[in-house]
Amino acid sequence: MIGNSFGRIFRITTSGESYSGAFRKRPGIPEKLYGGLVVIVDGVPSGIHITSGIIQEELDKRKPGQSRLDTPRKEMDQVYIFSGVMEDDMSTGAPVGMIIPNVNIDDENIEKHRSYKNYIRPGQANHTYFRKYGKYADWLGAGRASGRETAARVAGGAIAKLILDRKGVDVIAYTVESHGIRAGEITYGKAKENYRKNEINCPDLITAKKMIDDLLDVKKEGDTCGGIIEIIAKGVPAGLGEPVFDKLSATLSHALMSIGAVKAIEFGDGFELSRKKGSEVNDVPVMDNRLNKVRLKTNRMGGILGGISNGEEIRIRVAVKPTPTISMEQSTVDVEKKENTTVKFKTRNDPSILPRIYPVCEAMVRIALVDALLMFEAFEALGINNDDYYKNI
Ligand SMILES: Cc1cc2nc3c(=O)[nH]c(=O)nc-3n(C[C@H](O)[C@H](O)[C@H](O)COP(=O)(O)O)c2cc1C
Repeated sequence: MIGNSFGRIFRITTSGESYSGAFRKRPGIPEKLYGGLVVIVDGVPSGIHITSGIIQEELDKRKPGQSRLDTPRKEMDQVYIFSGVMEDDMSTGAPVGMIIPNVNIDDENIEKHRSYKNYIRPGQANHTYFRKYGKYADWLGAGRASGRETAARVAGGAIAKLILDRKGVDVIAYTVESHGIRAGEITYGKAKENYRKNEINCPDLITAKKMIDDLLDVKKEGDTCGGIIEIIAKGVPAGLGEPVFDKLSATLSHALMSIGAVKAIEFGDGFELSRKKGSEVNDVPVMDNRLNKVRLKTNRMGGILGGISNGEEIRIRVAVKPTPTISMEQSTVDVEKKENTTVKFKTRNDPSILPRIYPVCEAMVRIALVDALLMFEAFEALGINNDDYYKNI
């Protein structure tokens, strides 16, 4: 398996699966060292105050078993920092290593997964895993395709957050649609004010209630549903991203589309732009004499033009598919017997991924932004044309 790192200068590398450590249970090995998720964060400057408590705050947003809308799995998601941080909890400039041990690897659930081992789970990655990794493919709780893998990203993203805090960049993600039920328009202010005020983290509090009631009904049927997460990055300076292959929109898409269950992405007015005329969608510039700056009257493009941030809010939406594992009977194939069959998976699942995916979206956007920021600042530092006449524009 390759491609376990993301970012160029600020770079995370993750390892670990849904049930990593499940086969290492031995009296000589302390339980916490059976296995778990690991993240190495490269490119962390020295002098950043990093504690496991700070990282834990982000991880606790993603932790399962917190509400009626997510899986009953009791994963503690307790993080331990093992490198890159020294006296007074300050980063040294060395890679920061963190581990999140797996403590929820009981034999009963392992045996349950073993009983489904030869079945293709509709909508899950085990079909492509069979094709790619053959008979040694990880069959236990989706392996690297498990939502659990994203805990390592959230730990890495928590460090990116500390760097962005210093730069005055804020990233926030929240639900705007669940199973076709849509929230009203959400401003940055409203998103901040109502952040995490309900189980589905939808800042439109009235619509949130409808979404939750609907999800509980869907859950009762043993079914699942999807929705849309919106992400705002505020305070991003103009100039991040490159004009060709490394457009900021391309890097952010890579970051977000690498999250399991994310199926589509749009920036600004996104797909809606394709239905309109140029005169209806162009963001018209206006001179703001108070700030001595050019601003845009609207922000339909979502803060990025020509692949480069323009200093306005970056607004992104991602479509999240329904959780693939459902507790209903479905047709499948037994790959060992090579025959059609039906199966009802009785594993512990999220009826909707929305309540747990938004911290992962925040983390990936933060990581991509810190990486873009480091490249931008390096490029600027070496530039010979320091004439900032146009830079204020
Ligand atoms: C936070 C999070 C939690 C998830 N929980 C589950 C789950 O409980 N059951 C499941 O089948 N898939 C779950 N998924 C989705 C799978 O990881 C994903 O659908 C699968 O890897 C197939 O990849 P694809 O949907 O991107 O093609 C979760 C994803 C995330 C990001």
